[in-house]
Amino acid sequence: MRILVIGSGGREHALLHAMQGHELTVAPGNAGMSRLATVRSVDVASPDEIVALARDTEAELVVIGPEVPLVAGAADALIAAGIPVFGPTKAAAQLEGSKAFAKDVMASAGVLTASATRVEAVEDVEAALDQYGPRYVVKDDGLAGGKGVVVTEDRAEARAHAEAVLAAGNPVLFESFLEGPEVSLFCLVDGETVVPLLPAQDHKRAFDGDAGPNTGGMGAYAPLPWLPEGGVERIVDEIARPVAAEMVRRGIPYQGLLYIGAAWRPEGPAVVEFNARFGDPETQAVLSLLETPLAEVLLAVAEGHLSEVGELQWRDGFAAMVVLAAEGYPQAAKTGGAITGEALDDPAKVLHAGTALEGGEYVASGGRVLGVVGQGATLEEAVGNAYRVIEGIELPGSFYRSDIARPAIEGAISL
Ligand code: GLY
Repeated sequence: MRILVIGSGGREHALLHAMQGHELTVAPGNAGMSRLATVRSVDVASPDEIVALARDTEAELVVIGPEVPLVAGAADALIAAGIPVFGPTKAAAQLEGSKAFAKDVMASAGVLTASATRVEAVEDVEAALDQYGPRYVVKDDGLAGGKGVVVTEDRAEARAHAEAVLAAGNPVLFESFLEGPEVSLFCLVDGETVVPLLPAQDHKRAFDGDAGPNTGGMGAYAPLPWLPEGGVERIVDEIARPVAAEMVRRGIPYQGLLYIGAAWRPEGPAVVEFNARFGDPETQAVLSLLETPLAEVLLAVAEGHLSEVGELQWRDGFAAMVVLAAEGYPQAAKTGGAITGEALDDPAKVLHAGTALEGGEYVASGGRVLGVVGQGATLEEAVGNAYRVIEGIELPGSFYRSDIARPAIEGAISL
């Protein structure tokens, strides 16, 4: 099958790796992907350019990695052109594109989530701060490339974020804080059919011990040894299926990947956020354990017959993924440094995110440079295998977290 993947990060590198054996094109891609796919350029925010590239490559399936093309309407344009696409329409992608829309859908579907207040004027910020806290959750209502959410006990910081979002012309959502460890559950959704992948957890803060600023994600692991028996089924039954049914009821059926970020509270799961796409970095860990051929499953969603696919098959054991970040990430990542080491060209171990080739050598071209994936019979073994590889990679000034999955391994995650 000829497949076009849109995107350029570690997530897309993992998608390509899981679809090997097909004729793969990726755009805009990155240097590390050129061994698996033809790398082309595209403006990911332009549905017209994506359709033109899909036609040019005679794609039989287009897989859209990031949220920006989805919210811009790339899936709608591909559907109109008669090209099968994995990814929701613009209207359905509002589950990620507008947090207020997602809250409304959850309210109609009877899905548990944090209570929230939408604020559009700066003079209403103080009243919202009075209502919430002592831990403030302040969200940009629109897409913000992972920079939209601030969780803080510092009222001044919460106020400053709200004012900055409003100044940029977006509404702000104030939310109650949901206690409990977070689960990322990716669900394939085709209308009312839901097929879950393995549950995962990411590490969003920059430094060990969950210190430092929020990032796009510094590492992840899957599955979750601490999740109660039947946990995945509860998230599917209490969140994914009711939301999928509500989207059908509204006449905007969801087709693609619904990423459920849930807090596991004593009474069970409650939604922290939805995304309309695979998560990064969890995808890199999750897909490394998938045995079912991915391309056929994504095509089944695109063509509307996911119900014929059944349960996905997984390798036993665990996977862990550790991100190597450039100096200064996430505030001001230093790019251009040379990356050296073994396994840089082995996509079973190293998935590229922000890399470019200069004179035949890899250099850093983004904040999250690459991610290393390890598997093992135990989570500890999986993590150990990932660290052994990352220790052999050199990029001056770079850093990585040394405690990926550590709380889970030590049994320190309490429910
Ligand atoms: N893992 C966070 C995200 O993909 O948004």
